[in-house]
Amino acid sequence: MHNSIVKIYFSPTGNTKASVDAIASSIGTDHRDYDVTVDAETAPCVLAAEDFAVIGAPVYGGRIPKLAAARLSRFRGTRTPCIIAVTYGNRHYDDALLELSDLAQAQGFVVRGAAALVGRHTYGAIQTGRPDSSDLAADGEFARKAAQSKESAEIQIAGNRPYRDGGNGGSFRPLTTDACISCGLCAASCPAHAIETDNKTIRDNCISCFRCIRHCPVGAKNMDTERYLTFAAEFSQRLKSRRENEYFL
Ligand SMILES: Cc1cc2nc3c(=O)[nH]c(=O)nc-3n(C[C@H](O)[C@H](O)[C@H](O)COP(=O)(O)O)c2cc1C
Ligand code: SF4
Ligand code: SF4
Repeated sequence: MHNSIVKIYFSPTGNTKASVDAIASSIGTDHRDYDVTVDAETAPCVLAAEDFAVIGAPVYGGRIPKLAAARLSRFRGTRTPCIIAVTYGNRHYDDALLELSDLAQAQGFVVRGAAALVGRHTYGAIQTGRPDSSDLAADGEFARKAAQSKESAEIQIAGNRPYRDGGNGGSFRPLTTDACISCGLCAASCPAHAIETDNKTIRDNCISCFRCIRHCPVGAKNMDTERYLTFAAEFSQRLKSRRENEYFL
């Protein structure tokens, strides 16, 4: 029996959080929640061998976002069993799941199951309803098997070493319209702390996660430039065929 289920995730637009929640709730009810999307300041945290961790991150350029890797690295296991999950926007997860597995093992976790899960892409209109209820049900079924599995041979996870280049974020810098009511929500919830106190100026360390666009209560943040809209239309067309989730046990 596990002491507690410990959720650790980076999730600017919520796909990863939804998947981690589905995985965790299918294997236990006693949860601890470490959302590292915004807060970089929590002290290092050590999990016990009796805990069970669920660790999640999105895929950026086929890798774990560098910001996420840095924040996840503050958690250490004591041969603590875990499930790892990456969510990606229907293109591919490339080396991200392997990278997350390597990271978890280097931090003292034992990977019992790994999942590459499709979620709505940040850009364009790609798989906009995902993860859907059948995705989350399949996540739960996978998690129950992973949690019951005995520690045995190492799980074979798709991906290559050395990893491809990626994880830096994109080059889109959201705009702000006159509808802005200066509520400060975007600046307070920016994962990269890239929004100045005027709530409009965006620094170069922006990772183009579009959390500010999704969260703005009055729809003032946007990416309505010709360059983005042209890219998004072409990208959405190219990635319209549904990909399925992959589970490794
Ligand atoms: C900068 C950036 C790079 C991305 N790179 C990829 C990628 O390489 N492959 C892919 O399928 N999706 C990619 N995506 C889409 C995200 O991986 C996907 O939407 C993910 O589920 C977002 O997770 P979240 O909702 O937890 O933030 C990228 C998104 C961003 C913002
Ligand atoms: S969340 Fe929207 S309304 Fe609030 S400060 Fe940011 S842009 Fe302005
Ligand atoms: S400013 Fe950039 S990094 Fe910050 S929430 Fe917006 S898109 Fe994400």
